[in-house]
Amino acid sequence: MEQLETGRLILREWNMNDAADLYEYAKSKKVGPMAGWKPHANIEETKKILQMFIEENETWAICLKATGKVIGSIGLHCSSREHERSLGYVLSEDFWGKGLVYEAAKCIMEYAFRILKLEIISVVHFPFNIQSKRVIEKLGFQYIETKEKATKIFDGTEYDDVCYAITKEEFYNLNL
Ligand SMILES: CC(C)(COP(=O)(O)OP(=O)(O)OC[C@H]1O[C@@H](n2cnc3c(N)ncnc32)[C@H](O)[C@@H]1OP(=O)(O)O)[C@@H](O)C(=O)NCCC(=O)NCCS
Repeated sequence: MEQLETGRLILREWNMNDAADLYEYAKSKKVGPMAGWKPHANIEETKKILQMFIEENETWAICLKATGKVIGSIGLHCSSREHERSLGYVLSEDFWGKGLVYEAAKCIMEYAFRILKLEIISVVHFPFNIQSKRVIEKLGFQYIETKEKATKIFDGTEYDDVCYAITKEEFYNLNL
């Protein structure tokens, strides 16, 4: 996984030393459930997830350049189509509202289209996740459809997926 850099962030691969930083935000009830996953109950659970991140190699750690602290994650997940990937992200609540995920996602999308030669990137949010909706809009994604009860989350609740996509041409034309 290539390390990437933005004005305020380093996007890099995970290592097991990141467990404490990951646990710090992954235990929050306000973070994971918005993306469909269960808050981590303890650091042992975090270490298992971290091991999975390392093995899957689809997710970058979002690190603050100023301190080196890991404050979130961003990933490009494989989809059924060859030149398409799905974007996912979470950020520690302490750093919300500073445009950091927009900054990280813009960098990842540039990398995905230019280096990985993707043709399309998709993203989804749950209907109540207005924060994620705003990030998606600011990145120029186009609304595609809402799939009813498409995701069953960890506690069994079913949510609609609000689905968006952006093509390489659309992204380049935006000149973000
Ligand atoms: C979604 C998320 C990644 C957004 O990251 P971010 O870097 O805070 O995004 P931005 O700074 O661009 O803010 C996005 C919107 O969140 C809202 N917001 C900002 N600070 C906020 C805060 N402290 N509390 C609640 N909402 C806030 C604003 O409406 C903002 O929109 P605006 O730019 O029009 O003002 C982050 O909120 C998060 O990690 N949420 C939990 C996990 C999640 O939802 N992941 C995505 C699953 S689809």
